Amino acid sequence: MNVKEIFETMDYGPAPENSDEAMAWLMQRGDGFGHFIDGKMTAHHDGFKSRNPATGVTLATLSQGSSEDVDAAVSAARKAQGKWAKLPGHKRAQYLYALARLVQKHSRLFAVLETLDNGKPIRESRDIDIPLVARHFYYHAGMAQLMDEELPGAEALGVCGQIIPWNFPLLMLSWKIAPAIAMGNTVVLKPAEYTSLTALLFAQICQEAGLPKGVVNIVTGDGATGELIVNHKDIDKIAFTGSTTVGRRIREATAGSGKALTLELGGKSPYIVFDDADIDSAIEGLVDAIWFNQGQVCCAGSRLIVQEGIAEDFYARLRLRMEKLRIGNPLDKCVDVGALVDPVQLKAVSKLVNEGGHEGEVFQCGTLPDAGCFYPPTLITGLHPAARLMQEEIFGPVLVATTFRTPSEAVEIANNTRYGLAATLWTENVNLALDIAPKLAAGVVWTNATNLFDAAAGFGGVRESGFGREGGWEGLRAYTRPNGKAAKQAQILPVAKPANAEADAGYSSPVFSPRGKQLGHVSLANRKDVRNAVEAAAGAKAWGKTSGHLRAQILYYIAENLSARSDEFAARVRDLTGTTEARAKAEVEASISTLFTAGAWADKFDGATKAVPMRALAVAVNEPVGIIGAICSDDQPLLGLIGAMAPALAMGNRVVLVASEAAPLAATDFYQVLETSDVPAGVVNILTGSHSELARPLAGHMGVDAIWCFSSCDLSKVVEAESASNLKRSWVNNGLARDWASTPMRDVLPQATEVKTIWVPYGE
Ligand code: NAI
Repeated sequence: MNVKEIFETMDYGPAPENSDEAMAWLMQRGDGFGHFIDGKMTAHHDGFKSRNPATGVTLATLSQGSSEDVDAAVSAARKAQGKWAKLPGHKRAQYLYALARLVQKHSRLFAVLETLDNGKPIRESRDIDIPLVARHFYYHAGMAQLMDEELPGAEALGVCGQIIPWNFPLLMLSWKIAPAIAMGNTVVLKPAEYTSLTALLFAQICQEAGLPKGVVNIVTGDGATGELIVNHKDIDKIAFTGSTTVGRRIREATAGSGKALTLELGGKSPYIVFDDADIDSAIEGLVDAIWFNQGQVCCAGSRLIVQEGIAEDFYARLRLRMEKLRIGNPLDKCVDVGALVDPVQLKAVSKLVNEGGHEGEVFQCGTLPDAGCFYPPTLITGLHPAARLMQEEIFGPVLVATTFRTPSEAVEIANNTRYGLAATLWTENVNLALDIAPKLAAGVVWTNATNLFDAAAGFGGVRESGFGREGGWEGLRAYTRPNGKAAKQAQILPVAKPANAEADAGYSSPVFSPRGKQLGHVSLANRKDVRNAVEAAAGAKAWGKTSGHLRAQILYYIAENLSARSDEFAARVRDLTGTTEARAKAEVEASISTLFTAGAWADKFDGATKAVPMRALAVAVNEPVGIIGAICSDDQPLLGLIGAMAPALAMGNRVVLVASEAAPLAATDFYQVLETSDVPAGVVNILTGSHSELARPLAGHMGVDAIWCFSSCDLSKVVEAESASNLKRSWVNNGLARDWASTPMRDVLPQATEVKTIWVPYGE
């Protein structure tokens, strides 16, 4: 092409980034990589290959982590943990700061290596991934520095097993490692089998930073190595990012083990365009939403939902823009769309489109390189909201689209998914945006922008997109626990029926005092009652939209009505449990006080505006979780019920409570208090009966959003395993006692809320 022709077309010429330094780094490794355990690289063994997906060329041979490798890594992490946690926060901060500086120093090498290994355009690894990695270490260096002063009641969890995916290899590593080690944990991290190279380069900078050995351990391998980590007995927490299928399997595998768990899973995030939107910006946003990283992004805006009146024009302009996307060598600085991560992924994306594309109209564009894992940018319009491609995560550069007429229909279509990771909305009307954002089932909402990330802003999902947040103050909860150790909880059984007592009716049972006096009858709830209770709770959705001010008044009112009958309740607690008069009175007083405390918090558990380094407000809002099922403590028949109910209600949740099995009558008396306290029907539902019979249907119910279990029979395993059905959040006692009177409400409220981060950029 001559100069004249170049001026006529104004086309981009090739501008490949030099990969010599990265290739030289790989060459130095000779025969292959081992793992990074206890501060050293181990010898290479049992290799598998890591290939450049754009060319198919083998970049390195890696080792498949065996059970001996995982054992060695966990034991190094265990050995290092106590000392690491005991360092003053300031010392840990210095190490994190050194890691941040070293990431910056080697940023070019990291970026090129990432692009070679993953296939993402160098522009993205250079300008987005690696700068965000450095930012994450800087930010969490600050968290380590502040931990002693700002989180006095928190301590590290211990050894964390971390399993990450291939779409943002080094970025996901930083999201996992930085907060974990900042809080005094040590880690065993497994990168994805397709993309382990930058993690191994990171191991080298851990050595350069002089990080104490054993604090960070990296074991490479595939899902089998991941399973070894998940099932390891000496790990305290599993943090996973990846597919919903594997996430569900990990939930089941860790059930009842006492391991803490956070899951960042898939998504099918809506991208809503209202007819008053700045269309050019919305189209440019879509390029970032679905063609960034070839659409292999858990929060990709992969479902376009556009207002009917502008749809045809919008699609036409979008197709024109798509034709301008440059596809090719990921190392070329002018390339927009690189290679998918592996032939397996290319095959999976092609198969989905081939099978489901005919239900709509498929538009594809661009000239693909002759070889490599390339897939054309694709738009599929005219799909029914229930179509498979509208529902399933494609995880490729494929955008599916549908239309809506009214804002409420937009919300309905947006929420018509099992996922709930992110959502984007475009409108020039700020009132409309801020009205819609809270209605979207998502952990992150971007308005007039998309795919904004920062270490200060929490990221994570609801529904089958997983649970837990990464980033911000809220992200630290995933790596800390309240300090102190609870005692073991002894099982408290209902008082056995005296020999001369009447026979059980099957659906109800007499309740006796420890002295053998019959105190009354309770119904024995069954699976159908659970369903009815959840249905009633589902019908009371409006509770979540009431103001904290109103909820506070209702909680005070419940407290007042309970207070008026406190002697009667104290007598009931005394008779049921055989405790002393004074203790029974104290339990009633603590229940009243808990209601007041929850009421006080109802309008004060504020969100926060995060200090993100860009012209945007990132507003973290505490939203209700939805319907919470709670199996209540046996030992405190009234306080156990109210301890779970009051904070849940205060935060706008509806509850299905299973009362103390051993002493249920305080709960049935409490019905009357609720009836006289203006609590709307369906907001509080109380069941009585066998904990072990009710745990399964309640924890497995698809309509329940979180399950809590404080029963004295150890049901943690059952509850957590059943919760995998819809990946609801769980909070269980793992056989430990909980004294509600000394549980700080601040520790409970996060269990009763989901943090939604709403991003609003500003400026011209
Ligand atoms: P994956 O979920 O299988 O892999 C993610 C990580 O988990 C990898 O490190 C893998 O080695 C590990 N792993 C796999 N099986 C495991 C097990 N049983 N126990 C412990 N660790 C295990 O994802 P995959 O197969 O690579 O991709 C399949 C689909 O998953 C993609 O097409 C996409 O839809 C989704 N995905 C979603 C991601 C997200 O960020 N939400 C990331 C990667 C994949």
